[in-house]
Amino acid sequence: MIKLLTIIGARPQIIKAAAISRAIKNKFPDKIQEVIVHTGQHYDNNMSQIFFDELDIPHPNYNLNVGSGLHGKQTAVMIEGIEEILLKEKPKCIILYGDTNSTLAGAVAASKIHVPIVHIEAGLRSFNKSMPEEINRIICDNVSTLLFSPTKSGIKNLVKEGFKLKNTGPYSINNPKVYHSGDIMYDNSLFFSSLTERSVSIIKDNGLENEKYVLATIHRNNNTDDPKRLNSLFRAINKISVENKINVILPLHPRTAKLLAKNLSSELYSTVKTNKLIKIIKPVSFLEMIALEKNAFLIMTDSGGVQKEAFFFKKPCIILRPETEWVELVNSGSAIIADTNEEHILKAFNQFKKAKKLKFPEIFGDGNAAEFICAEILKNIN
Ligand code: UD1
Ligand code: UDP
Repeated sequence: MIKLLTIIGARPQIIKAAAISRAIKNKFPDKIQEVIVHTGQHYDNNMSQIFFDELDIPHPNYNLNVGSGLHGKQTAVMIEGIEEILLKEKPKCIILYGDTNSTLAGAVAASKIHVPIVHIEAGLRSFNKSMPEEINRIICDNVSTLLFSPTKSGIKNLVKEGFKLKNTGPYSINNPKVYHSGDIMYDNSLFFSSLTERSVSIIKDNGLENEKYVLATIHRNNNTDDPKRLNSLFRAINKISVENKINVILPLHPRTAKLLAKNLSSELYSTVKTNKLIKIIKPVSFLEMIALEKNAFLIMTDSGGVQKEAFFFKKPCIILRPETEWVELVNSGSAIIADTNEEHILKAFNQFKKAKKLKFPEIFGDGNAAEFICAEILKNIN
């Protein structure tokens, strides 16, 4: 039996953790013991607890309750807490997901005291270091022992940065192993998709009709904090709803909800508030989100996870960012990068309205990435 320590903190990491916990429970219950540490980066009920209740994720063994704050302070408090727990629990390795400040804190704390790091979602790059996530993921990859990339482009990025593909074990921070594993969020989307039927009331409850609404999410700091970009985004959303007589539903991240009144012009703010076609709601559960994604006509988002889920559920996606780490989506033609440019967003919408058949090749694995990852950890960490 080996002990793993998993770090979660932000909403998408809690959801991702469900895939690994499920694989451990179903396939390796006598071989792997998981200790879960929640940093408390996300803490509202609908950003955290709701996912434990719904997705059968074990209750965290520790919660650092760090809350929100400046990046440096937030990360520092996490590092201190994670280090203490690592010293106490003495796990064989630490599992880190994605690219948030919780990921970075785990990477710094573990690497300094020689706990091997398993990075899930390794190799992704936006090539934009003004994104806090780009810094977090580069640092994490560079101190990891096992790197699991969901995509081929992630592997290519790592090779360009000097990672080797044909090295042999034993693996360590100085001799890391890179895998093309598939995507654990694809595992999750397949698994939970069958359970969404009981949550479809979200569509009726909001007066929506299947295939006749747009689902939008916005939370990136460069979109929420920059009034020019946020106004441009909401002008485009308003125009799409009015010109196409189509509902747009926005389960809004608390960061965006807090900044809407402050950063939208008072005129646009009141237009958006009084436009009955635009439905701004609180963040929803994962099963509700899947139901919204599966039944949408189109998805507009600056979220990494939601971009991919649009692809998993075969929906066109307008990416509200200047670039994406998930280049395969754009290359397949099912996603268009429009950034926050009003004209580009409207053009992309009209293009998808006319599109006949979009392509969604199978590029995220076979739905068993989490099992593969657990098996490789057992083989290579001891
Ligand atoms: C973080 C991640 C981002 C990820 C996102 C997922 C970093 C640097 N960013 O961004 O990569 O895409 O999570 O959602 O780690 N807030 C609440 N309640 C909560 C959580 C946050 O009100 O439960 C508000 C606070 O005002 C906080 C703000 O949201 O200051 C931002 O939260 P934070 O965790 O710093 O960053 P995210 O934008 O959520
Ligand atoms: N999500 C959710 N409820 C919401 C919005 C998003 O369950 O109201 C899920 C979504 O389905 C995806 C994940 O949260 O699995 C994405 O998280 P987010 O957009 O916050 O972060 P990112 O993926 O950009 O890091």
